[in-house]
Amino acid sequence: MHTTTVGIIGGGPAGLLLARLLHNSGIDCVVLESRDRAYVEQRQRAGILEQATVDVLRSSGAGERLDREGIVHDGIELRFDRRGHRIDFPGLTGGRRVWIYAQTEVCKDLIALQLADGAPLLFEAQVHSVEGADTDRPVIRYTHEGREQTLTCDYVVGADGFHGVARSAIPESLKRTYERVYPYSWLGILADVPPSCDELIYAHSPRGFALHSMRSPTVSRLYLQVPNGTDPADWSDERIWDELDARFAIDGDWKLERGPITSKAVLPMRSFVTEPMRYGRVLLAGDAAHIVPPTGAKGLNLAAADVIVLARAFARLKETGSAELLDAYSDTCLRRVWRAEHFSYFMTTTLHTDPDQSPFDTRLQISQLDRVAASPHAAAELAENYAGLPIG
Ligand code: PHB
Repeated sequence: MHTTTVGIIGGGPAGLLLARLLHNSGIDCVVLESRDRAYVEQRQRAGILEQATVDVLRSSGAGERLDREGIVHDGIELRFDRRGHRIDFPGLTGGRRVWIYAQTEVCKDLIALQLADGAPLLFEAQVHSVEGADTDRPVIRYTHEGREQTLTCDYVVGADGFHGVARSAIPESLKRTYERVYPYSWLGILADVPPSCDELIYAHSPRGFALHSMRSPTVSRLYLQVPNGTDPADWSDERIWDELDARFAIDGDWKLERGPITSKAVLPMRSFVTEPMRYGRVLLAGDAAHIVPPTGAKGLNLAAADVIVLARAFARLKETGSAELLDAYSDTCLRRVWRAEHFSYFMTTTLHTDPDQSPFDTRLQISQLDRVAASPHAAAELAENYAGLPIG
């Protein structure tokens, strides 16, 4: 039987960053990840880091490659009614900006550090259950290399994603969940072609939403709104480029560069929150507790914010014996979570075309986008939420 101070279920960005922060505070932990290393390092997610996420990666020693290869963005373009409107982040937020640096790269950097000098990180460790959440010594049961194992912990952190087991350690009778499933998905592609724009373009069009993002100076990442249940095999490369062209069309100069498509996948869109984020000695972080639709790129940043709050709380407990910050964990995080839920919902419903959308709904969307384009106050509201609010 093994013991540790903090047992972390999940070796995605939330679990890995928490392990790094705990290591830097001299707190023992063990990370159990169900997938193998290659899977974690290749799982495609959004590619935008907020200022606060960049700050914590840097201060924790994981910012070196990010500073070399990350691309700083000072704004985004909203495209609607065949016009483009730029939102200037630093000008509207007192200097905050965002970085293009994919989740895959954040995970690679954190895994390398963890394996070099961090706490144990076990891949292909299947967690079955968490027991004794309401006792002083919760236990994680898992299988690794064919053997059943137990890890006895002072605290367990569930950073094991939406489909993870940790959330079930909170009794149903104490749990409230809130959910919205959207009537559309995204078809996401990676293409070996330099981005056709310097900054991201979020496009509202009568044919549905489209997003132009990027991974590097030579790799573009693009998305199309598609119906739920879409099979990527139904979308030939030519059909994808033609549809992107139609949705990004504006009056004026603009050309979408085409190139070989190297990956196609359909992503569902969901908003989800579970409350509270803590029960006894089990604490949830990241997607285990909340999901946002990707419009606004909040998912990874919310996970980072959770574990920053959590790492501070564990450090306070170690230094002073006070569990005050741990006790406040759920309330502290949920305030930020609901703000991000609202923002992601707002971006999603303002930019996508609902299959049942009436012309009235479309006029409201355009009016809202016009307002953001016309008013620095409305634009600042969007910019503050997008570039990320400071972590209290
Ligand atoms: C991405 O680059 O994958 C990306 C960027 C912004 C979003 C969503 C995804 O809102």
